[in-house]
Amino acid sequence: MRMRRIPWAADYLTTSPSRVHAPEQNKGNWNSSKNGKLHLEIGCGKGGYSAVMAALYPQDTFVAVERNESAAGLAAKKFDEAGVSNLSLVYGDGADLSQWFAPGELDIIHLNFSDPWPKKRNAKRRLSAPGFLEQYKTVLADNGQVIMKTDNQALFEYSLPVFAHAGFMLEEVSVDFRREDHPEDPLTEYEEKFVQAGNPIYRAIWQKG
Ligand SMILES: C[S@@+](CC[C@H](N)C(=O)[O-])C[C@H]1O[C@@H](n2cnc3c(N)ncnc32)[C@H](O)[C@@H]1O
Repeated sequence: MRMRRIPWAADYLTTSPSRVHAPEQNKGNWNSSKNGKLHLEIGCGKGGYSAVMAALYPQDTFVAVERNESAAGLAAKKFDEAGVSNLSLVYGDGADLSQWFAPGELDIIHLNFSDPWPKKRNAKRRLSAPGFLEQYKTVLADNGQVIMKTDNQALFEYSLPVFAHAGFMLEEVSVDFRREDHPEDPLTEYEEKFVQAGNPIYRAIWQKG
């Protein structure tokens, strides 16, 4: 599904209070709450998941990253309108995340319906490719987690051994996550469409080993 161009997105992103313009300046200082967890969603799309999560878990801090300008503009608007103070947007590429977060700073990384990049020559771009996992290991705390949801069986089957090889421990796995209710975990925009179409949702939680 190609994102339609949002003409006001570029202008909106220049003034949005939710957007962090220089994320590297927050390195080591993202989490202002001592008791809460620091979450990062990579590829947040229109931002619905992080917006609902931030409201559900007000003690935690949420950072959402999106590199598509139109999607980032929509997410920024959603975050500004959400009326929560524990949520910010980085308009940028998740490949740069070790410039923005200090080693061990993050508690949870969310990968929701990441682009599958089915062609082998594009495999490095998958958010579960070995190059990304090395960065996740650096920025995650010792007991930090990566939580992935996808409708794409091929991406899920690709990811399982890649995480294992990188030393992550598989904590939970489901091949039909929405068969039961999960009020603790909101549906993303993509997920809503797949669930309505009756597609199973694959989900895994890995812990940094
Ligand atoms: C298929 S969409 C899913 C959007 C949202 N997570 C959802 O479930 O509704 C994938 C999103 O990830 C973004 N994306 C892909 N690779 C990225 C990267 N390396 N850094 C930041 N965003 C990325 C794309 O621009 C796109 O908006």
